Parts: sequence; C-alpha cells; structure tokens
Amino acid sequence: MISDKTILVTGGGGFIGSNLVEELLVSGNKVICFDNFSTGKRENIQSYLDDPHFRLMEGDIRNMDDCRKAVEQVDYVLHQAALGSVPRSIKDPVTTNEVNVWGFLNMLVAARDAGVRRFIYAASSSTYGDSEMLPKTEEKIGRPLSPYAVTKYVNELYADVFSRTYGMECIGLRYFNVFGRRQDPNGAYAAVIPLFVKKLMQHESPVINGDGEYSRDFTYIDNVIRMNLLAMETTNPEAINQVYNTAYGERTTLNQLAAYLKEYLGEFDPEIRKIEIIHGSNRAGDIPHSLANIDKAKRLLGYDPPYSVRDGLREAVKWYWNNL
Ligand SMILES: NC(=O)c1ccc[n+]([C@@H]2O[C@H](COP(=O)([O-])OP(=O)(O)OC[C@H]3O[C@@H](n4cnc5c(N)ncnc54)[C@H](O)[C@@H]3O)[C@@H](O)[C@H]2O)c1
Repeated sequence: MISDKTILVTGGGGFIGSNLVEELLVSGNKVICFDNFSTGKRENIQSYLDDPHFRLMEGDIRNMDDCRKAVEQVDYVLHQAALGSVPRSIKDPVTTNEVNVWGFLNMLVAARDAGVRRFIYAASSSTYGDSEMLPKTEEKIGRPLSPYAVTKYVNELYADVFSRTYGMECIGLRYFNVFGRRQDPNGAYAAVIPLFVKKLMQHESPVINGDGEYSRDFTYIDNVIRMNLLAMETTNPEAINQVYNTAYGERTTLNQLAAYLKEYLGEFDPEIRKIEIIHGSNRAGDIPHSLANIDKAKRLLGYDPPYSVRDGLREAVKWYWNNL
C-alpha cells in the first residue's frame, strides 16, 4: 500500500487524473496536480484545494521549466497529461504531437534528472492499431491508425529507451476505453459513454457510428486506479520497464452498451427505456473490435479487476444522474 509518498499526477485536473488524485490523498500521500486545464476542469479538483496534502501546479508539459518545477521532491510520477481523442489528432496532428510526444519527453527528462523513483504513464490500446488479433496481448501490435496512436506508441518507445539507457523505472499502462465518474460528456471529442448518458438523460437519441456491432473492452475507472497503485507498489523486478493492458478483459458491443445504459438510467427515469437508438456512418480511425488479454498484469502485478463492465456502468450512471 502506497502512503506517505509525494506523487505527481500530470493531467490531474482531467477525468482519470482527478480520480487518481482523490485515491492517493485518501491513502495518505502528498499529491501534486500539474495541469494546464486545456481539457481538464478546475471543478474536478476544487474540493482538494484546501487539503494541506494537495498542491496545484498550473503549467504546461510543453514547457521544460514547468516540468522541472513539478517533479521537485517527487517519489512517483503518474503521467496522465495528454491530448486524447483519435478524431482530434486527425484534425490537428501537430498539437497532439507537441503535447503527447514533446511534453512526454520533457516529463521523462525532468523525472530522470530529479531522480524520481518510478515513472508510470498512460499508454493506450490505440497502439494495437490495425492488428486483428483478439484478445490483444502486449507483445503483438499492428500499424497505428491515427496520429494519436503514433504519439502513444512513441511514448512507449521513449520509456523503454530511458529505462535501458538511464536506468529509470518506467511502467506503461495501455488503457482500454476508460469510463466513470467525472468523464466529460461535453465537447466535440466526448467519449461514447458520457455522451450517450447525457443524450439519454435529455431524452434524445444517441447516435451509434456504424451498425453497433463494433465492440470495446470498456474499463471502469476503479480498475484503472487499481492498476496505477499496483504499478507503484510492485517490487517484482520483472514487472518493471513493461507495458500492461489495463482493462477488464471482456468485449461489449455498442448496441449492448446502449441497452445497458437505457436499462440502468431507466431505473431513475422509466421514459428513458423507450428512447430509440440511431445509427450513423463509421468513423475514420476506429478499429472494429478491441479486447484485452490481461494475463500479463495478473501474472506480474497481481491485478484482479474489481469492477465488471456492468457493475462499473451502474456506478457511472448513478454518478451522472446525481451530478449532471
Ligand atoms: N479515457 C480513456 O479511455 C483513455 C484511453 C487510453 C488512454 N488514455 C490516456 O489517459 C490519459 C488521461 O486521459 P483522460 O481521459 O483523463 O483525459 P482528460 O482530457 O480528461 O485528461 C487529460 C488532462 O491533461 C491535461 N493536459 C492536456 N494538455 C496538457 C499540457 N500541455 N500540459 C499540462 N496538462 C495538460 C488536460 O487539461 C487534462 O486535465 C491521457 O494520457 C490519455 O491519452 C485515456
């Protein structure tokens, strides 16, 4: 159990980052949140501002001086700051690269120079690209299908090189479609679950891109938190300098997802059960299916995901019902 440590969460104002901040404070650590609030929200960390164990450092990972300041006296870095979204990267590959590659490299260099104990970073299932193998195992990837996927793969390459060249301890967590409390339902690049929940709550029809038989390994936020904690805690030398699928290990189609959301939201508002789902065209850069093999995380980190997709969806729906 990690406690009494100083932990830097980059992107701590975002969806995943703010959930990590919360968990780390509860378990008795000092937490620094480093964010420029480009996609994150102040309200995500508002309630920690008065906590003496919490510090907000507003800054940009593209600025080396900011990165160096952020890592001072830090034991662990949980690097979450990045520009997410495949469509955003297709529209603006340059900014995505600046933040996700240049910013990542700055953080690695700053962490190396400050002697940070371990650098744990958000990698992505998009690295599997056009590989059709199911389930996905860490060693076998395909060709990237978007600029975003390129940046996330480059992160893994840099982390590996920094481990081997400078003796740093790095661990990459390839997140698979994460969902849960505080994930933003607004904006052009909102993820499918918060987007559908918001539409259904407004009694509007969600639009599924394609026939709805594309599937994803939707992963509840608490499973992702568990993986980050295990990556910090592990003392198994074999487990370090690795990348891990961070998922539940089950496939849900978009049609099933919409049905679950209607069912769970329908418990609060029965009218929602009657809302029709609309189908549109497939989206560029989307892979048809995504499913993780999580054996490596089980074997080397002792991972046992606490939430199934449906249990997680129930929790998420409850949160949106009370907070949107
Ligand atoms: N949500 C998912 O399903 C998913 C899947 C795979 C990988 N990831 C990765 O997980 C991480 C967190 O994603 P999220 O869903 O919480 O997204 P998010 O947009 O909610 O969080 C990202 C945070 O990074 C901050 N940020 C962006 N650019 C920055 C910069 N230049 N300097 C400092 N801070 C900056 C944003 O303001 C935001 O608070 C990202 O690295 C993302 O690529 C997420």
